[in-house]
Amino acid sequence: MRAVVITKHGDISVLKVQERPDPPPPSAGQVRVAVRAAGVNFADHLARVGLYPDAPKPPCVVGYEVSGTVEAVGDGVDPARVGERVFGGTRFGGYAELVNIQAADAIPLPEVLTFEQGAAIPVNYATAWAALHGYGSLRAGERVLIHAAAGGVGIAAIQLAKAAGAEIHGTASPAKHSRLVEFGVDRAIDYRKDGWWKGLPPYDIVLDAMGGKSLKRSYDLLRPGGRIVAYGFSAMQQGEKRSLRTALPQLLPMLRGFNLVKQLSDSKAVIGLNMLKLWDDRGTLEPWIGPLGAALADGVAVPVVHEAVPFANAGEAHRILAARENVGKVVLVP
Ligand SMILES: NC(=O)c1ccc[n+]([C@@H]2O[C@H](COP(=O)([O-])OP(=O)(O)OC[C@H]3O[C@@H](n4cnc5c(N)ncnc54)[C@H](OP(=O)(O)O)[C@@H]3O)[C@@H](O)[C@H]2O)c1
Repeated sequence: MRAVVITKHGDISVLKVQERPDPPPPSAGQVRVAVRAAGVNFADHLARVGLYPDAPKPPCVVGYEVSGTVEAVGDGVDPARVGERVFGGTRFGGYAELVNIQAADAIPLPEVLTFEQGAAIPVNYATAWAALHGYGSLRAGERVLIHAAAGGVGIAAIQLAKAAGAEIHGTASPAKHSRLVEFGVDRAIDYRKDGWWKGLPPYDIVLDAMGGKSLKRSYDLLRPGGRIVAYGFSAMQQGEKRSLRTALPQLLPMLRGFNLVKQLSDSKAVIGLNMLKLWDDRGTLEPWIGPLGAALADGVAVPVVHEAVPFANAGEAHRILAARENVGKVVLVP
C-alpha cells in the first residue's frame, strides 16, 4: 500500500509517499478500512518536527483519523459490514491507503457526508462534544466563548453549541470573522487586538485551546457557575518551531495553576480535556462520537473541509496548518 511516511524529523520535505507492507488481516474485533481521506492534526506536525514525544519514531506513519470503506472484518465482527462507508479514529497510521481499526471505532458515515467530511469528524467533533456536553454541561440559553473558533474543533463546537441553543462568541484572526458569522457565531472577536476582552459579558463556558496566559483571562471572563474547558497549548507554539522563549512565559502561569480556595469561593470550574487520555482509558472514542450520530445525519453537525490535499503533496497540508491559513479541517486523500 502507499502511505505518507515521516522519513525523519524535519521540515515538510521529510514527508514522502512510500510503498509499505499492507497491514495484517484484521484481528478479532477489528475492521480493515480502505482509506479515502485522512484527517491532519497539529499533533502530526509536531510529530514531524520531533516535538511530540508519544509519536512513533521515524520512519513512521502518523494520522489519528480516517474515513473510507470497510474492506475486511476480523472475528466477532458482522461480515455484513464489508463495503460499509465509515469514519473512525486510528491511533497513528491514518496517512495510508489501508488501516485496521477497532470495529467500535468505525462509525457509519451518513450518506449526506463526503469521505473528506468523514475524516474531519473523529478528533474535532469528539473533542467539541466532550468539551461542551460531556464535561461542560452546556444548557440552552448559556453564553459560550470559543477560542480558535475558525479551527476544526472551533467550528465543530460552534455547530454543537448552536444546536444546543447557546449564545456563541468566538475569537479568530479578523480575516476569518465573516466565516464565523456564517457558521452561526453571534459575536466574532479579534483576539489579536490588545484589550479584546474588555467590556465582554460574563460566560457560562469558555473553550480554551490556547493555554498559557489565556487561561487566567478565560477564568476571569467566567460568571459564577461557569466552566473553562482547557484542551490545548497553542500559545506555546509558533509556526515550525517551538522555542523556549515563546513557551516559557506561557508555561509558567499554567504550572502555577489555579487556587482551589478561590475557585470554590468564585464557584468556577476548570476542566482539563485530553481526548488521547480518554481514548486510551476507554479503549475507544465511541462514547464521545456515538452521541453525534443524529447531529451528523440530520445536518446539524456539518464538517467543514478547508482543503483536500493529495498524499503526494502532504507537506502542503502541514504548511497550511502551521501558517494558520485553514478555516476548518485539512485532509489528505490517497
Ligand atoms: N486536548 C485534546 O484532546 C485536543 C483535541 C483536538 C485538538 N486539540 C488542540 O486544540 C487546538 C486547536 O485544534 P484544531 O484542530 O481546531 O486546530 P486548527 O484547525 O489548526 O485551528 C487552530 C487555529 O487556532 C488559532 N491559533 C491561535 N493561536 C495560535 C497559535 N499560537 N498557533 C496556532 N494556531 C493558533 C489559529 O486561527 P486564527 O487565525 O484565528 O488565529 C489556527 O488556525 C490545537 O492546539 C490542538 O492541538 C486538543
